[in-house]
Amino acid sequence: MALTPTPSDKFTFGLWTVGWQARDPFGDATRDALDPVRTVNELAARGAYGVTFHDDDLIPFGSDDSERQTHIDRFKVALASSGMKVPMATTNLFTHPVFKDGAFTSNDRDIRRYSIKKTMRNIDLAAELGAEIYVAWGGREGAESDGAKDAYVALDRFREAFNTLGQYVLDNGYNIKFAIEPKPNEPRGDIFLPTIGHALAFINSLDHPELVGLNPEVGHEQMAGLNFVHGIAQALWHKKLFHIDLNGQHGPKYDQDLVFGHGDLKSAFFLVDLLERYEYSGPKHFDYKPARTESDKGVWESASANMRTYLMLKERALAFRNDPRVINAMAESNIPGLAEPTFAPGETWRDLANEFLDIETAGKRGYHYEALDQLALEHLMGAK
Ligand code: GCO
Ligand code: MN
Ligand code: MN
Repeated sequence: MALTPTPSDKFTFGLWTVGWQARDPFGDATRDALDPVRTVNELAARGAYGVTFHDDDLIPFGSDDSERQTHIDRFKVALASSGMKVPMATTNLFTHPVFKDGAFTSNDRDIRRYSIKKTMRNIDLAAELGAEIYVAWGGREGAESDGAKDAYVALDRFREAFNTLGQYVLDNGYNIKFAIEPKPNEPRGDIFLPTIGHALAFINSLDHPELVGLNPEVGHEQMAGLNFVHGIAQALWHKKLFHIDLNGQHGPKYDQDLVFGHGDLKSAFFLVDLLERYEYSGPKHFDYKPARTESDKGVWESASANMRTYLMLKERALAFRNDPRVINAMAESNIPGLAEPTFAPGETWRDLANEFLDIETAGKRGYHYEALDQLALEHLMGAK
């Protein structure tokens, strides 16, 4: 299997990822700003399929209409000449101080209205560039203290925003769906819709739930101590995996945004296994930050590392599934047993009346998961 990325792999990157200048709370930028045109060309040369952007990554905040158009035009030229796509776009509702207490859930009504208007304007551009997914990451939607925000009422305002944006897309006939990106904290002390599960439940309350799905991020669920593979399985099961942010994280701590696979590698292995088996066909979007220690060279090395790691894991996961030892181990562990419905067609609870289980024997049974786990590890490590 080829480990060289091609556009058919559908690997995408945000302008803000490779473009991160590595400014952190303790130190200044260590890298120069990247011109979006160069980013498009560098990523295309490495086999990426497309780029994504926040409005302000492409058009510096505060640009007038003619400056805005200039930025858009030269971006479009780069896209056309490189063949790169823009499958997703999003809004920056977190950098400017106006958003410090939130955007869609700010206590200030005028700020809420401004935030929705800013989003609509960028949805127009997203549609023009052919994006079909619009991500909503509410980084500033939250609070540091529970008295500061009525977390019940905030959900009313959140719903209002998504209902309005959904109606905007319908009224304009855009082929766009929204993908909510959960995150438990950072930059707010606590963020609303903190996990995949919270967001899934919220979506069901909307006027048009079919227009809204998820953009889960590896590191965000792991920051909350959750199993990302299980979260993605549930998102797929609900048909809500509209987009995915791949990166790496070492457990519950600040949002590390490491290269994909450079955090919990075993989880990344089973994630790729899951995405490939259930034929996730959306973009594989790397939302990572090249480490602050890296120069320009390291930025592009790390971009390639994300893609190569995905392809290696895909190869390893396939080899794992096809290995006769694994197939036997799975049979011994009774993995296929879970696929059989608990009731035969036509059976009801009444059919359990005469059910007998020898619980002593059943309780003594071993499941041999350790052997299976070791086989996964050996495949992951390329052991022969
Ligand atoms: C983060 C988020 C962001 C979003 C991006 C798109 O933790 O900073 O993951 O990178 O993905 O803003 O909405
Ligand atoms: Mn992140
Ligand atoms: Mn993200």
